[in-house]
Amino acid sequence: MQADRPPRPAGALTRRSLLVGIGAAGGAGAMYAAMGVLGLAPTERTAPVPPASGAAPTPFVPPRRSDFTLRGDGAPASVLVLGAGVAGLAVAYELGKAGYHCTVLEARDRVGGRSLTLRGGDVLEETAAPGGGAGARQRVTFGEGTYFNAGPARIAQWMVTLDYCRELGVPLEVFVNANSSAYVLTEGMKGPVRVRTARADAYGYISELLAKATDEGALDARLTAADKERLLDFLTHFGDIGGSLAYTGGERRGFRVDPGVGAGTGLGRVPSLTEVLSQGLGRMLTMDAGYEQAMPMFQPVGGMDAIVRALAARVGADRIRTGVQVTGITGRPDGVEVTVAGGAPVRADYCVATLPPHVLAKIPGNLDAGVRAALATPIPMSAGKIGLEYGRRWWEIEDQVYGGATETDLDIGHIWYPSYGYHAERGLVVGYYNTGPAAEAYDGLAHRERLRRALAAGRRVHGAKYGRDILAATSIAWRRQPHIEGAWVRWPSTGGLSLLQRPAGRVYFAGDWLTHLIAWQAGALESARKVVTDLHHRVLKS
Ligand code: ALA
Repeated sequence: MQADRPPRPAGALTRRSLLVGIGAAGGAGAMYAAMGVLGLAPTERTAPVPPASGAAPTPFVPPRRSDFTLRGDGAPASVLVLGAGVAGLAVAYELGKAGYHCTVLEARDRVGGRSLTLRGGDVLEETAAPGGGAGARQRVTFGEGTYFNAGPARIAQWMVTLDYCRELGVPLEVFVNANSSAYVLTEGMKGPVRVRTARADAYGYISELLAKATDEGALDARLTAADKERLLDFLTHFGDIGGSLAYTGGERRGFRVDPGVGAGTGLGRVPSLTEVLSQGLGRMLTMDAGYEQAMPMFQPVGGMDAIVRALAARVGADRIRTGVQVTGITGRPDGVEVTVAGGAPVRADYCVATLPPHVLAKIPGNLDAGVRAALATPIPMSAGKIGLEYGRRWWEIEDQVYGGATETDLDIGHIWYPSYGYHAERGLVVGYYNTGPAAEAYDGLAHRERLRRALAAGRRVHGAKYGRDILAATSIAWRRQPHIEGAWVRWPSTGGLSLLQRPAGRVYFAGDWLTHLIAWQAGALESARKVVTDLHHRVLKS
């Protein structure tokens, strides 16, 4: 996701309130992009959540058994972890290194939370749409070897997620996040254009305008003679403009007939400056410039859930209880009691609650009013995806597209081509990945209607073949996922954020929603590390 043009910081706004405002206007993607622009995105690979004070974060040191034996006092405590998503599993895994007795309670029938990879044989339940209607159930019928990362799908090089992949032995491969052979399509365009062509034209004309303005002296107040010379040299390369400083097209646009024995045949007429500007491609052509989205990105081989499966294996199946819904959280001076549907209450010395805040806010208990109000503050956001399994990899065979994404401003958002299984018989295309109002509109649709819309939009990019050779399709609306109820959250005001980064008595909170990496597994992991550190230090001191 990407910003819809982040607003300029206004004098009266702090950086924090700016983020809140941008989040409100442009959704999470806009907020991430703006955080990058403002230099707020964390840059330290192993950095835990920066403390509210802004002090430099210290590197994470996992708890060890020897932390207790060396001191000769204290002992690992018992900890109830609520939620077996990335944050919950990481908390149990890290505390387990020092011998803490962790029990993980998970309401769903599988671990992973939003890190959900769907394969043939899975069943996907959806609750009633937020506006009403009935629940739904999809049986996933993808073939052997096909998987669909319905939640997280890409990992940036600087994210702590890769450190966990290394530690857990999860093999990685490149996730092709940007591909110049893929397409862009906006409502302002007559039809799809390859990314490379659109970029060549946009860079070319921008360079022409700036070069001519420079050459004609329009920027003399800003530029020295040496600056002008260097800028013109830069623009010649940036826009592939010649000595005339005019953009007239060129090889960067691509070919209708590729070079080989022959010289190749170009694409033909270069659109005018006015046509290029009317395409409205600023967001589409800069998607991979974002700090979180820059290539190369990575994915676990075989599906994103390899990470949560590896974490769960290290925690141990005997410590994870699935299908257990928490119905109450009561903190006491000497421990925490959690009640569960249809079972006996569970007690422990401490509790780490990693459920989404909007779910936690509904669970009764004795958390104080300020904490409850803070939990009720973040707003759950919609996002949706559809996985389309084809029996023929036409995007490779006919379009020469190997991975990457087509960016659009249609309600499907993006089309993703698979970064695995090249040249196999089958392949899975993500036919839409939408957020914001488009996703909200899809939330209420039945799967068949989502599929119909996805195919109609996809045909605008790829033509009739987009509707052929489909073997199976599964769609997800994250607002309708039981016990999760949202793709991620947006904080309309961050008043409660720092409160929830601290424990409420013996109850701690963890999750991506408590970090500056909302909607990333890295956020869940960084938050888990912070809570593990805080809890362990407290136990050592007790
Ligand atoms: N992390 C999510 C993505 O990459 C939002 O799309």
